[in-house]
Amino acid sequence: MTSFAFEPNARPLAVNERAALIADPGFGRVFTDHMATVRYSANRGWHDAKIIARAPMSVDPATAVLHYAQEIFEGLKAYKLADGGVALFRAEANAARFRNSARRMAMAELPDVLFVESCRQLVRADRDWIPDVEGGALYLRPFMIASEVFLGVKPAAEYLFCVLASSVGAYWKGGARAISLWVSHDYTRAAPGGTGEAKCGGNYASSLVAQADAVARGHDQVVFLDAAERRYIEELGGMNIFFVMDDGSLVTPPLTGTILPGITRASLIQLARDEGLTVREEPYTIDQWRADAASGVCVESFACGTAAVVTPIGTVAGPDYQFTLGTGATGQTTARLLQRLTDLQRGRAPDPHGWLQRI
Ligand code: PLP
Ligand code: COI
Repeated sequence: MTSFAFEPNARPLAVNERAALIADPGFGRVFTDHMATVRYSANRGWHDAKIIARAPMSVDPATAVLHYAQEIFEGLKAYKLADGGVALFRAEANAARFRNSARRMAMAELPDVLFVESCRQLVRADRDWIPDVEGGALYLRPFMIASEVFLGVKPAAEYLFCVLASSVGAYWKGGARAISLWVSHDYTRAAPGGTGEAKCGGNYASSLVAQADAVARGHDQVVFLDAAERRYIEELGGMNIFFVMDDGSLVTPPLTGTILPGITRASLIQLARDEGLTVREEPYTIDQWRADAASGVCVESFACGTAAVVTPIGTVAGPDYQFTLGTGATGQTTARLLQRLTDLQRGRAPDPHGWLQRI
């Protein structure tokens, strides 16, 4: 079942109102005219795929997701290309990760073709919402909730899959600048055997207090350490992390089940290796990072993700320490990888790995 019913929004936003909204959209507040929905039930399987007007949903107060948080989501972008076309970036990778998240949360697994087709159809309906600003894109938010109305604790027998589209500009207010991180030695994000590598809402709910603590201390983002030893750097609340060494090599924490396997992370590993750089996926401790930053062995660090793209890290602080990476500004390798990735995503450079899918 991959055919979608299209019920166009009878009252799309007026062109001038849309233009005003997408002139300076920020991140995650401007939504398009449509959304995609697909339903699942144990006896009917996946059914009722459609593109409809974006509208509030009404849910019964006993809907399972409201009680036991059976929810997963994804984040990917559609870009306007240099030749005027529009393309999705690595949507199949998001579809595969979505299935893995579903399996971990005991939810029905959406076939990849339905995931990708939902995104394609939605972008096709709302392509005029892609902002023509620096960093502009349509950020797609596929998500799935347990929609069965039942209070027993068990995997639900009914699910609702939905894709929203949001016109976005740069993720960071105030434009591109090196961010400052707070290392949480109190809160951890995910333990071995837990849900760290699933993209489920619960992971974010439990990380918010740590992120709020970092912001209250004057920093942009929190960094989590591993739950078992509180030594190894894992990732940020919504981004993976890389370290650039003075010999030009890159280090990034390995995928051992407690961090999100970022698609930007995987893409940057590939792009760096394509240029002949050495990339090591290996554990790196906070003590080593402090020592390497002080001695000049670690010369740059950056965060990466669909929303944040490639974001340089300027300074890092913990309860009794603070250090600066390089000069505290964007490093050369960080700037080059950012350029390579965004040139590819916008069709300004070749796409040797076939990551772009035209709409
Ligand atoms: N880590 C976390 C916790 C995230 O939420 C994200 C964002 O999706 C990432 C890493 C980066 O993943 P991706 O590059 O697939 O967006
Ligand atoms: C993304 O990059 O897609 C995320 O989910 C992270 C969030 C900070 C928006």
